[in-house]
Amino acid sequence: MTIKDLPQRPGETVTVTGWIATLRVHARVAFIVLRDGTGVVQGVVVKSQLPDDIWELATALTQESCIALTGVVRADARAPGGHELTVTGIELIGASEEFPIQPKEHGVEFLLDHRHLWLRSNRQRAGLRVRAEVEQAIHDFLYERDFVRIDTPILTGSIGESAGTLFETDYFGERAFLAQTGQLYAECAAPAFRKVYCFGPTFRAEKSKTRRHLTEFWMIEPEVAFADSDDNMDLQEEFVCYVVARALERCGPELEVLERDVSMLESVRPPFPRISYSEAVERLNAERAAAAAAPDSPAHPFEWGRDLGAVEETTISSWFDRPVFVYNYPREAKAFYMKENPDDPRTALCNDLLAPEGYGEIIGGSQREDDLDRLLARIREERLPEEAYDWYLDLRRYGTFPHSGFGLGLERTVGWITGRPHIRELVPFPRLINRLKP
Ligand code: 4AD
Ligand code: MG
Repeated sequence: MTIKDLPQRPGETVTVTGWIATLRVHARVAFIVLRDGTGVVQGVVVKSQLPDDIWELATALTQESCIALTGVVRADARAPGGHELTVTGIELIGASEEFPIQPKEHGVEFLLDHRHLWLRSNRQRAGLRVRAEVEQAIHDFLYERDFVRIDTPILTGSIGESAGTLFETDYFGERAFLAQTGQLYAECAAPAFRKVYCFGPTFRAEKSKTRRHLTEFWMIEPEVAFADSDDNMDLQEEFVCYVVARALERCGPELEVLERDVSMLESVRPPFPRISYSEAVERLNAERAAAAAAPDSPAHPFEWGRDLGAVEETTISSWFDRPVFVYNYPREAKAFYMKENPDDPRTALCNDLLAPEGYGEIIGGSQREDDLDRLLARIREERLPEEAYDWYLDLRRYGTFPHSGFGLGLERTVGWITGRPHIRELVPFPRLINRLKP
């Protein structure tokens, strides 16, 4: 019997097992709020109606003790969960010492130190349940569209994104890295299956201490043969709309616990605005010039060629009420594998998808360079070790084909959907530059 089944059992005597979320003991009555993972229910313990030993046990209980609670189910609109148990029996399964996390404000470092216990808190449970639903929605979306899931290696000898953010390890005497992306491997599976995706943990030794950066995060990376950059954005748009709609449909109670303003998510419908990098920079600089006219303004023009930072991304997303694509960035600001834009070779056929409300880049995607010589030139330009990419270059030697794909950051996406200020709460055990524990 679980708590979520109680509404079907009015008047019955049932036993539920779980942990004590809160406990109030008065002279003649005690209230135990039990959490079992499916819901919460309040048990009412009335001294005069119970044998002494049960009452004594009830008064000795502590927060987060694990117990079996037996009682009669009663509908009560005021009770959390809509039902109450009139307690007839209590069994102690696992007593709890004084629980470190009390129903009061704790500092975030303290909470992160106790992440293994913090997971039990209402908001943390709500956020992680949304994460789980989003993961399921991702698999469903791609499965329904005939994508084949390809699991890509975590230990690799090739640099996936950039040399600057690698976790390096010794692989029996060989240099190895933790994967920054599964993309290069997913690309190899596209000629086998046409539409594929990988979904796994990825690693970036980024020294960024921001609310959007983890050193270990989960990324979903679809790769599609014969898709160009525009098709790629179409797919991202459909994908993000599907995932958000699913969260709205199935995670109402969790979004309520998180006090998420869901009207911000209801506007996530196609089409998403699409603005080129160059247009975005022009508009940013027009705004900055207007602001600079004000006395004491620190506004500097944004230099064409640089990658957009969090500040620019927030400004650009503020122009729209839904996610916005910024496409065709300067080549030197982006990874080596992106296809040169034939209409403007200073740029690549790529896009970022920026989430609203300052959540920044949730997707990075591109058409891939399918020309062997141009790809080699880029690898050399970036001073990447050419010999590590022989297999990747083979893809351009044996039946090269136009293809595109993208990577969606799971924690950033769930951070935005749940409206939480920092993405570290949307992964069960965050890895941050100063945190490897728990
Ligand atoms: O833009 P990125 O670096 O793209 C890639 O890795 C490509 N290989 C994807 C592809 O085309 N298959 O990363 C993709 C996404 C970002 O948009 C962001 O959402 C997330 O991964 N991301 C991070 N999330 C948390 N912490 C970090 N340090 C992140 N770095 C990237
Ligand atoms: Mg990116």
